[in-house]
Amino acid sequence: METRIFHPEKEHTAIAEAAAILSRGGLVGIPTETVYGLGADGLNEDAVRRIFEAKGRPQDNPLILHVPSADWLTRYCEDVPKVAYTLAERFWPGPLTMILRRKPVVPLRTTGGLDTVGVRCPAHAVTLAIIAAADVPIAAPSGNLSGRPSPTTAAHMIEDMSGRIDAIVDGGACRVGVESTIIDLTVTPPRLLRPGGLPLEALEEVLGEVQVDRAVREKLGEGEKPRAPGMKYRHYAPKAPVTVVTGSPQRSAAYILGQLTPSSGVICFDEFAPLYAGHEVRCLGPAEDKAAHSRAVFDALRTFDATDVTQIFAQCPDETGLGLAVSNRLKKAAGFHTVDAGSGLMIGLTGGTGAGKTSALRALEQLGGYILDCDALYHEMLRSDAPMRRAITEAFGDVFLPDGTLDRQKLGAVVFRNPAAMDRLNAIVYAHLVPEAARRAMGHDLVGFDAINLIESGMSSLCCRTVGITAPSEVRVKRIMARDGISEEYARMRIAAQKDEAFYHRSCTDVLENTADSPAAFEQQALQFFTRLIEEETTK
Ligand code: TXA
Ligand code: MG
Repeated sequence: METRIFHPEKEHTAIAEAAAILSRGGLVGIPTETVYGLGADGLNEDAVRRIFEAKGRPQDNPLILHVPSADWLTRYCEDVPKVAYTLAERFWPGPLTMILRRKPVVPLRTTGGLDTVGVRCPAHAVTLAIIAAADVPIAAPSGNLSGRPSPTTAAHMIEDMSGRIDAIVDGGACRVGVESTIIDLTVTPPRLLRPGGLPLEALEEVLGEVQVDRAVREKLGEGEKPRAPGMKYRHYAPKAPVTVVTGSPQRSAAYILGQLTPSSGVICFDEFAPLYAGHEVRCLGPAEDKAAHSRAVFDALRTFDATDVTQIFAQCPDETGLGLAVSNRLKKAAGFHTVDAGSGLMIGLTGGTGAGKTSALRALEQLGGYILDCDALYHEMLRSDAPMRRAITEAFGDVFLPDGTLDRQKLGAVVFRNPAAMDRLNAIVYAHLVPEAARRAMGHDLVGFDAINLIESGMSSLCCRTVGITAPSEVRVKRIMARDGISEEYARMRIAAQKDEAFYHRSCTDVLENTADSPAAFEQQALQFFTRLIEEETTK
C-alpha cells in the first residue's frame, strides 16, 4: 500500500481527504500535542482491527478514543462522574485521558474487551478538524510499531508505518512529546495508570488523593497484570540495553562517565554532553527543563537503533512534574534497570599557588569532605594506569623509562615547545583522569576535587559548585617566598605565569578570597564559607 503524506498547512484539501479515508474505514497517522497517533474510526470494528495489524499490537491492548470536546462523553460513556467534566474543563483539549465506563456503542475490539473506555480530547487543531469533518471518534494508539518508541514527528511515523497505512498527516513536531496522562475515574480514589504530559500534581489539585498504579514506578512481577494493559509491554526500547541512572544531575553524570566503554551510548542533559565526547550522545535539554526532556526523550531512544552502540546509559530527571512521565518512559525502555547515583555533593576547588587552597581543603575535610587531589591522582595514573600510559605512548612515542616511570625530560621536550602537543597531552590525561576521579567520588556524600585545571579538564561540570581560591598578589608573593625559600623576583614570575584573578571570577561559580592574616584564620573563613555553601546546596 502506498502511504500518502498530507501537509495541511500547504494543502487545503488535506483535512477533508484524511477525514474521507477515516470514514471509509482506512488508517491515518494523526498529529497530536503528545505523540503521533495511528487513527481509525473508533466505532468501526474492521478499521480498528487493521490498527492492531498495522502496529503489530496485541489485541488485548485497548485504544483511546479521541473526541473534539466533553460534549461527546455521553455518546460513548456510561455514568460519567461530575469530576470528569471538571477535569475536561481544566485540561481539555490537552494531554489527559480519562478511563470511564463504556457504552455498548463502542466495540469491544476498540477497548480490548474491557467494559471501560479511555477518552481524550487532543490539543491539535489539525486533528480536531479531522475529527469534526469525519464526525466519528478517532481510535488511536501511538503511531509506532509495537515495542518501538512513540513517534513525535511525521518522519518517525513514516519510518514505522510507511507502506502499512493509507496516509500520514504531517502536523509538525509534537509540542509535549510524551503520551497523555491516563487517569482511571471508575475507581475510588482515582488511579493514575500512566504518567504523561499532564503532571500528577495538576490532577491532585482537582481530585485530591490520586493513587499511583504500581506499574508506573516498578517492574511488575511475572504474571502480574497492570491496570493499563499497555504498561506491561517492554516498551519504547532501543535494541541496545539501557541503564537509567537516577540521582542529582552531577552525580548521575559522574556515574555514567565512570562506567562508559568505547561502544557505550549516552542520553544526557545538555550541560554534560562535552564529558562524553567521542561517544554516541543524545541530549535531553538542560537539566532543569523537564518540558524539553519530554519533547526529546522518544527521539533520543529511537535514534540509537541506527548506531552500533552496545549499551546505553541515561540520565533521568527527578519524578516531580513532567519528570514522572520522562523517568517512566526511560525506565520502561530499560526494563526498569535503574542505578541510583545518589545526591552527594561534589565541589571543585582551584586556585593559584600561595592563595590558600590547602587551608580551604582542610576546612572542607573538617566538614566530612573526601578530598581528591587530582595532581596526586595524575601522578599515580602515570605510574599505574595502563590505558592512559598506552595512549600517551601512542601519541608521543616511548616516553616511559625502563623502570616504568615517566621520562619527564623527553616528554617535556616535545610538549613545552609545541602548544598543539601540549593540548594533545592534556586531552589524553583529562580523558582518563576525569572518569577515574568520578569513579572515586562515588560512595562519598561530600567530595572536594582539588584540581589546578578544574575548568579546563571539564571536571567542573561534575561539580555543583566550583570555588576559585584567590588572594591579593602581594600576599601571595610573601607567602610563597617564605614557603619555598625563593626570591621575590622569582615568586612574582611564578605568579605571573599563572591564571589571573579575573579567570576565577569568570569561570567559577564562587570565589573565596583569602583576606585572613594567617593560614589558621583563613581555615576558619573557609569553614564558614563551605558550611554556608553546603547548606545552600542541600536545601535547594
Ligand atoms: O497521548 C496519547 O495518549 C497518545 C495519542 C496518540 O493520543 N495515544 C496513546 O495510545 O498513547 P496508546 O494506545 O499507545 O496507549 C494507550 C494506553 C495503553 O497503555 C492502554 O493499555 C491504555 O492506554 N488504555 C486504553 N484504554 C484503557 C482502558 N479502558 N483501561 C485501562 N487502560 C487503557
Ligand atoms: Mg503506545
